[in-house]
Amino acid sequence: MTLTEILRGRRVVFFGGKGGVGKTTLSSATALALARAGQRVLVVSTDPAHNLGHLWERPVGDTEVALWKGVGTGRVVGTELDPGRVAREHLDAVAGTVKGLMPEHLHREVDRYFELARQSPGTQEAALLEKMSTTVLEASERFDVVVLDTAPTGHTARLLELPTLMSAWTEGLLSRRQRTERFSDALRGLDGQRRGGRGRSAQEVRDGEIRRVLERRQRLFGDMRRLLTDAAATAFVMVLTAERMPVQETLALHGQLRATGVDPAALVVNRRSPLDAGEFLARRHEAEGGHLRVLADGLPQVPLVELPLLSGEVTGLEAVGRFADLLA
Ligand SMILES: Nc1ncnc2c1ncn2[C@@H]1O[C@H](COP(=O)(O)OP(=O)(O)OP(=O)(O)O)[C@@H](O)[C@H]1O
Ligand SMILES: [Mg+2]
Repeated sequence: MTLTEILRGRRVVFFGGKGGVGKTTLSSATALALARAGQRVLVVSTDPAHNLGHLWERPVGDTEVALWKGVGTGRVVGTELDPGRVAREHLDAVAGTVKGLMPEHLHREVDRYFELARQSPGTQEAALLEKMSTTVLEASERFDVVVLDTAPTGHTARLLELPTLMSAWTEGLLSRRQRTERFSDALRGLDGQRRGGRGRSAQEVRDGEIRRVLERRQRLFGDMRRLLTDAAATAFVMVLTAERMPVQETLALHGQLRATGVDPAALVVNRRSPLDAGEFLARRHEAEGGHLRVLADGLPQVPLVELPLLSGEVTGLEAVGRFADLLA
């Protein structure tokens, strides 16, 4: 089965794997292969070291850039999410909301808190996940397929775990707020201070606002989790090379993904040494075969696609096009 056959009908496709295995190349080539078949495709890079721009030989940034257009509806559009910038923007927005809810004399305190938060590990991941979620959910209205070129291995699995973690956290906060609200309602009742139609206090307005923000995030993460774990809509493709360590890491990643409710759709073994290009590469091909048997034994149910080692780097539309030929 070819990769495009495996991915048929999916609306979101993730490419994950170690650094340098070919995630960016595969994301773009897959996007092109799908666009050639008439699909509108958005390719999103979330890797801090972006190279979508390098690959397509044109600048790609945080706005959407047209990368390829077919005769019909098919097209490839690209965008890059810079985790550092996403985190900064996210924290600035949150700090703004919090300040709006706090008296002025506490604003310096709020700034100090967010300065610390900026540096805490996890903030970038959380901000990036939120941005990825809004990007994917919003883009899936305008595109047939969203392809995600994600950061190296462990990171990706953590990103996929976050919807569950964050949503549990948000739910916790909401139910605590609900309890306090019920408590103050009860107190007001005792006091005989029923407000009825007489408008809400500043505290109640603030509470309502906080609740709305929390509920919006809860919906966002819920939607994202549903999408990620819907195997008919979302495919997670693990990219690797046919060597001992990458195989071991892929087996571990598969376990992590399964634990988060994601069922990987395919394994792509990239840079497979050719058999017919001299004795040296033929011997490598043989050794790779041994590693791939370990992989296939460990994950017999996951379809495996092999892509050959090419003589040159994959840069420019023509090269991406040739790579896309290998996938269709
Ligand atoms: N089958 C192949 N044959 C030869 N070169 C390849 C092949 N696949 C990818 N490459 C080259 O290998 C390099 C790394 O590929 P790519 O940038 O796609 O990997 P990546 O997984 O996105 O890396 P990173 O983790 O750094 O983002 C690139 O120079 C690319 O052109
Ligand atoms: Mg890359």
